Amino acid sequence: MEINKAIKERWSPKAFSEKQVSENMINLLFEAARRAPSARNEQPWQYYFVHRKNNKVFGDILKLLTGINPEWAKESQVFIISVMKKNYDYKNRPNGKALHDIGAANVSIAIQAAEMGLQVHQMGGFDKEKTSEYLKLGSENFEPVTVFAVGFPDNVREHTEDLIQRKKQSQSRKELIEFVFELK
Ligand SMILES: Cc1cc2nc3c(=O)[nH]c(=O)nc-3n(C[C@H](O)[C@H](O)[C@H](O)COP(=O)(O)O)c2cc1C
Repeated sequence: MEINKAIKERWSPKAFSEKQVSENMINLLFEAARRAPSARNEQPWQYYFVHRKNNKVFGDILKLLTGINPEWAKESQVFIISVMKKNYDYKNRPNGKALHDIGAANVSIAIQAAEMGLQVHQMGGFDKEKTSEYLKLGSENFEPVTVFAVGFPDNVREHTEDLIQRKKQSQSRKELIEFVFELK
């Protein structure tokens, strides 16, 4: 037995190629999110996306990113914004598992992307308030969680700075012994 190939090959690139991402691929990313498990089957997520060919909106989302994120994310082909619904439909009570569940859906997207030769790079570094305004979420019940940069990794630069970075990151993973404990 081996670890799932897409899980093994998933990573967060900072260099993307000019190759376009098809509508079908984008739909499959959201289909993967759709199948994620969630508490009470609430599915407390929403996704907003834009292609880079929509210059105006792509540029607007780019401006919402903070730190050095815009410098590399500007090369991606698609942006996806994940938005969490904080309260259960049932009696509008706080859903303590919402962040967990949108995380599960987001990882499903990342794994489906890797399965198709694509990669995503999620970012927490963006202005949440401005993003809520931009998306006209208009309610305390919805909160943007991450912005995804989506695209095919740039194979040339992947073999230089990104590969070195990737190697460093994978080497920095904790060992199982550090976070897995068998109960006896
Ligand atoms: C919720 C979340 C927020 C993140 N925010 C950023 C970010 O703002 N900028 C960035 O460059 N990477 C960001 N990352 C990517 C992580 O740094 C990356 O997943 C981690 O270093 C492991 O590398 P890998 O995804 O290539 O395995 C984020 C990842 C997650 C899951």
